[in-house]
Amino acid sequence: MHKFVNAKKMVDRAKLGKYAIAHFNINNLEWTRAILETAQETKTSVILGVSEGAIKYMGGFNTVVAMSLALLNDLNITVPIALHLDHGQSVISCKKALDAGFSSVMFDGSHLNFNENIKGTKEVVMYAKKKNASVEAEAGTIGGEEDGVIGSGEIASEEDCKALAALGIDLLAAGINNIHGKYPPNWDGLKFDVLKNLSVAANKPMVLHGGSGIPKEQVQKAISLGISKINVNTELQEVFAAAIEKYVTSGKLKEDKGFDPRKVFKPGIEAIKLKVKELLTEFGSLGKS
Ligand code: 13P
Repeated sequence: MHKFVNAKKMVDRAKLGKYAIAHFNINNLEWTRAILETAQETKTSVILGVSEGAIKYMGGFNTVVAMSLALLNDLNITVPIALHLDHGQSVISCKKALDAGFSSVMFDGSHLNFNENIKGTKEVVMYAKKKNASVEAEAGTIGGEEDGVIGSGEIASEEDCKALAALGIDLLAAGINNIHGKYPPNWDGLKFDVLKNLSVAANKPMVLHGGSGIPKEQVQKAISLGISKINVNTELQEVFAAAIEKYVTSGKLKEDKGFDPRKVFKPGIEAIKLKVKELLTEFGSLGKS
């Protein structure tokens, strides 16, 4: 039986090899299947990220684990895949995910005062270690909104990164002027000097949230400065929605059995697969497993 893996090994290798592991947020069975099939087809390790909002939408922690684990086995996915809680807002939420079978969690204590962030991260690391799961922490905040999680976009400090890294985490997300969702036209780009210093201070694989819509040159520069995991959600939602819009507006919905959900979703699924492959290539992880 195949199982989800702790993400530490894949991100450590990515840091050394100067590429980034893709974290793709999932929303339902079709999404999960499209990502897993592309990972297998291209022999690439990926991380399935699940936000608390998406978990609620799908029914709960156990449903998400049961569904994605069943796909891993039914589709015979042999490349290492991690199932990761994205932006866990509380210690309880992280523990629930780990108990249900997630192999990796993010404790996002960025909405707390720093002492509370440290305390929560420490507790999650201790719990996760017992289950051989990996832990991502957050310093500073990611701007914009991700499934109801709103951040002010506060740039992380070196001291905070060092303090979080010392707790035995495996990955560190730090605010470097990155934003969840679409980047505004007047966005002034990632703060590379900050990233460089934080990456040295933390000495951990760094995570770039808000991976959708960042110009390729900036993504690759960020990877060269220590980014080893890139989170993408909006971009897959956009291509999925655009493909389905095209299907509907072309009149196919009304043709023959065009209303069959398997037909309606098909172009969306194909669009996800294409975008996943394109991003794996951009992040340099294509074929790395
Ligand atoms: P985007 O929706 O901007 O791609 O961000 C995803 C993310 O960072 C998930 O944690």
